[in-house]
Amino acid sequence: MSQAEPIFELKQVTQQFGRFLALVDFNLQIYAGERVALVGPSGAGKSTLIRLLNGTLLPSQGEVWALGQNLAQLKPRRLRRVQRQIGTVYQQFHLVDTLQVIHNVNAGHLGHWSFLKALMSLVFPLEVETAAKALAQVGILEKLYVRTDQLSGGQQQRVALARVLVQDPLIILADEPIASLDPELSREVMDLLRDLAQQTGRTLIVSLHDVDFARSHCQRIIGLRQGRIVFDVPTALVSLEMIGELYRLGE
Ligand SMILES: Nc1ncnc2c1ncn2[C@@H]1O[C@H](COP(=O)(O)OP(=O)(O)OP(=O)(O)O)[C@@H](O)[C@H]1O
Ligand SMILES: [Mg+2]
Repeated sequence: MSQAEPIFELKQVTQQFGRFLALVDFNLQIYAGERVALVGPSGAGKSTLIRLLNGTLLPSQGEVWALGQNLAQLKPRRLRRVQRQIGTVYQQFHLVDTLQVIHNVNAGHLGHWSFLKALMSLVFPLEVETAAKALAQVGILEKLYVRTDQLSGGQQQRVALARVLVQDPLIILADEPIASLDPELSREVMDLLRDLAQQTGRTLIVSLHDVDFARSHCQRIIGLRQGRIVFDVPTALVSLEMIGELYRLGE
């Protein structure tokens, strides 16, 4: 893949659920190393877009290209290889509640580990050190051996983030990663995401309800509303009027 090629490209993508149009005619290019915020009211299509980007959802129409590949045309093994490079922090965390935190964090290895190694890790936690380092980075090292369902929402959010740190992907997709965190932690998690991207040239795509964080931590902001792109501009060009318009009630 050449430098000039986008890391993600959506070509005339429409996503339908039954008769409902969740995304309409998306054309979008994202380049390696960009930090992009997705903003817009509830139901705008942010999570749907993130699922299309990581290939867990295939578009009803159009094409989604990631790392130079048309995701809909990949055989399962090739798709998994691409997905290994795309770490996703889901809005609903997607953790296994009944497992200890360490196992959920180590699930970040699953794309790389053999089935046997993964199975063994349930009995003998492998890579304790890597998991501990990731948990320390998100500030909950002491929860390493706690059952995941005993954590608060904000702590579970951080476990989901630690799992992506262990996966060590080229691209991080984060779907409202600070929705259940207090202001101080929100800043820490956003700083961590920005620094991860900035220091190592990773691409970051993050959906946010907090437009201030979008402005302070991302270089480009895409405003979505009712399944359409309302604006897609460098952060410096986002005005309060544009944000007001994006979130205005009605219609
Ligand atoms: N699997 C599905 N089946 C049916 N409708 C769906 C499905 N997934 C999403 N939708 C619909 O698509 C629209 C966009 O949903 P999406 O979750 O992408 O919004 P969002 O911008 O992430 O919202 P929020 O800010 O509340 O997380 C919503 O109207 C939602 O109800
Ligand atoms: Mg969402």
